[in-house]
Amino acid sequence: MATKIVGLGMHAPPKKLTNADLEKLVDTNDSWITERTGIKSRRIAELGAANSDFGLAASRKALADAGVRPDEIDLIVVGTCTPDMPLPSTACFLQKKLGARNAFAMDLNAACSGFLYSLSVADALIRAGRGKRALVLGSEILSSITDYTDRATCILFGDGSGAVVLAECPEGEGILSCHLQSDGNLWELIHCPGGGTVNPLTPELISRRMIYLRMSGNETFKHAVTKMADVAQKALSRNGYGVDDLALFIPHQANLRIINAVGKRLGVPQDRVFVNLERYGNTSAASIPIALAEAKAEGRLRAGDLVLLVAFGAGLTWGSALMRM
Ligand code: UT7
Repeated sequence: MATKIVGLGMHAPPKKLTNADLEKLVDTNDSWITERTGIKSRRIAELGAANSDFGLAASRKALADAGVRPDEIDLIVVGTCTPDMPLPSTACFLQKKLGARNAFAMDLNAACSGFLYSLSVADALIRAGRGKRALVLGSEILSSITDYTDRATCILFGDGSGAVVLAECPEGEGILSCHLQSDGNLWELIHCPGGGTVNPLTPELISRRMIYLRMSGNETFKHAVTKMADVAQKALSRNGYGVDDLALFIPHQANLRIINAVGKRLGVPQDRVFVNLERYGNTSAASIPIALAEAKAEGRLRAGDLVLLVAFGAGLTWGSALMRM
């Protein structure tokens, strides 16, 4: 048995944060942001919004798309680095809200690679016989850990949620392979120092802005390009395919220049690369499932298509999944 995606859904909050809005917050401008990132606008949650509520909206759409009831779901995996609370998991809040009473639920933190890690874990659990149907999400409220006084990071991130229903299928259909990698030696490139056991929450920690994400953008950029291209190539080689066989390439939506550089290294024509970051920014783990849901809505995921997903994020973590739709 293998697994395949049988339903897709996404949710993004209605409030928009445009480049013009950011010009009023930090020393930046629309032309710099557009040229360096490709981002024009992002969706931002209201203060105190629950990640699981975004996940609920995305999940309901994915379940409706699949024609599956919440009580038919055996496992829920939520890829997130911005949970509702440190504990319990966002997945357990989601389970309660959905009424998915027969599922076991857990979160998985692989930062921006969280959806691909979660997809791979759910695929492996189903193959191992631990369930027949999974709900897999990438769901983030990145604005909750974004420092809106730091122009190097606040221009990038947005909020949203994407969900897929994964179900058993015959071998040779659906997910053909997943490849996950990480390198903890490079943790400092993107991290959020405060709020865990090393730097517990204190008023001083908050005043030193240690509750917010920090990133060495330029160095991260270089790793993102080489590592995403390598792991994408690994997926193709392992399955005996070349880029010409791909109907669609869906990379993590971090920066248009990263996407273009990866596409160029692989030799994928631009019209086969999915891009929506101009409207959402970098939604971390949510970027790939949101892109998948939009690609389907636009008629760009047809039965039989070969689709390659590639992610990269803090950890560092990165990975790919090759699928036959
Ligand atoms: O989600 C997975 C992980 N994240 C990523 O993959 C993101 C990877 N990195 C990036 O996307 C890019 O590195 C950034 C968009 C963050 C930055 O672009 P860059 O081309 O690497 O710029 P830089 O950091 O090298 O900065 C170039 C200049 C600097 O000024 P000086 O030192 O040359 O005078 C920055 O201070 O641009 C300045 N700068 C800005 N200027 C206007 C940095 N941020 C801004 C800004 N507006 N928002």
